[in-house]
Amino acid sequence: MTIPTVKQDERELLTEPRAGLRAGLQVGVLAAVGGTPLVELGRLYPDLDARLYAKLESLNPGGSIKDRPALEILTVAIGEGRVGPDTVIVESSSGNMGIGLAQACAYHGLRLICVVDAKASRQNVRILEVYGAEIDYVAEPDPATGEFLPARLKRVQELVDGIPGAFWPNQYANEHNSGAHFRTTMSEVAAQLGGKVDFVFCATSTCGTIRGCGEFVRKNGLPTRVVAVDAVGSLIFSDQKGPRLLPGMGAGLRPPLCDLQYIDDTVHVSDLECIAGCRRLVRREGILAGASSGGLVAAVVKLRDRIPAGATCVVILPDRGERYLDTVYSDEWVRSHFGQVGDLWPEKETVL
Ligand SMILES: Cc1ncc(COP(=O)(O)O)c(C=O)c1O
Repeated sequence: MTIPTVKQDERELLTEPRAGLRAGLQVGVLAAVGGTPLVELGRLYPDLDARLYAKLESLNPGGSIKDRPALEILTVAIGEGRVGPDTVIVESSSGNMGIGLAQACAYHGLRLICVVDAKASRQNVRILEVYGAEIDYVAEPDPATGEFLPARLKRVQELVDGIPGAFWPNQYANEHNSGAHFRTTMSEVAAQLGGKVDFVFCATSTCGTIRGCGEFVRKNGLPTRVVAVDAVGSLIFSDQKGPRLLPGMGAGLRPPLCDLQYIDDTVHVSDLECIAGCRRLVRREGILAGASSGGLVAAVVKLRDRIPAGATCVVILPDRGERYLDTVYSDEWVRSHFGQVGDLWPEKETVL
C-alpha cells in the first residue's frame, strides 16, 4: 500500500515562523501547545553513566506530542486557504492525533470526522466525542492484509471523495507533521540544553517526530545521534510482523515520512519492556507516562553499551499515563496477556 506524500516547499523556512501561518491563529488553548519542560531523570537508572533528560510532551494541553503536528497541519492549511469555516476535516485516528485535531477543531469551530476501528479504546472515543468530533467506525480489517490501517485509509478516501472541499491532514505523509517537530520539538530541546545533546531517542509510528528531530539535527550540524525506538512486531524497520498490544508506537508499514538518512540507530522494544519502563518511570521519577514512554527509557538501557560515559541523552516522552491505567498499569491485564511474568514494579528505593 502506498500513501501519497503531501509536498512541502521551502523546508528551510521552518526554523522561523512559517510564511503561511496567519498571525494570531495560535491563541487560546492552542497557544499552550509546545514549550514543554525538559527534566533530568536522575533516579531512573542510578548506575547509568550518562545524563538522561525527558521532554514531557504529556504537558501539551491535549495530553500528547500530537498536539504539535495537529496544530501545525491545520494552521498551515488555514493559512493557505485550504481550510475555511465550512471545511470538514477527515482523519484516520483514534489516538493522540485525533485528540490533537479534535482540540484544535473545537477551538476553531471546525467539523472533524475521525475514522476509527474496532481496536480504538472506549476512553479515547469518548474523549474525541466530548471535544465534538464525529466518529466513523470501520468494523472489518482490510481483507487482503488483515490490517485495519488500509481499511481505515480507504474509508477516509471515500469520505473525502464524498464531501466537497473536505481536508485530510494525512498524518502518515504530511510533511507538516515532521515540520512541527523540526520547527518546535527539537529546536526546543537544543535550546534547553544549549545544543549539547549526544543522543535523542524518539518513538516511531508515523515517523513525524524522528524525521523532524533528525532533520533539525542535521541541518543545524548538531553532534547528536538520532535513535529510533520501535515496537517489536512493527514493520517500520523490520519485516518481522508480530502482534502489538499497546497503542502509540509501531506501524504496519514504513510511512513515507520515514527517511533513514536522518536515523543513526534503531532499537526494538517489546510490550513487556514498555510496561516495565513505564512502571519504573512512575515509581522512581513520579512520571505517569504512556506506553511508548516506557519503551523509550527501556531503549536507553538496551543501547547503553554504545553510550559513552558522561554523554547527554534525551528521551522525548510522547504522552501521559492516565489513558493506560487499564493496560500498562493493570497487573490483571498484564497477567491475562502475558501470563505470570513476575513483578514488573521496581523495588522501592528511598532517596532523600
Ligand atoms: C503515544 C505515542 N507514542 C509515539 C508515537 C509516535 O510518534 P510519530 O507518529 O511522530 O512517529 C505516537 C504517535 O501517535 C504516539 O501517540
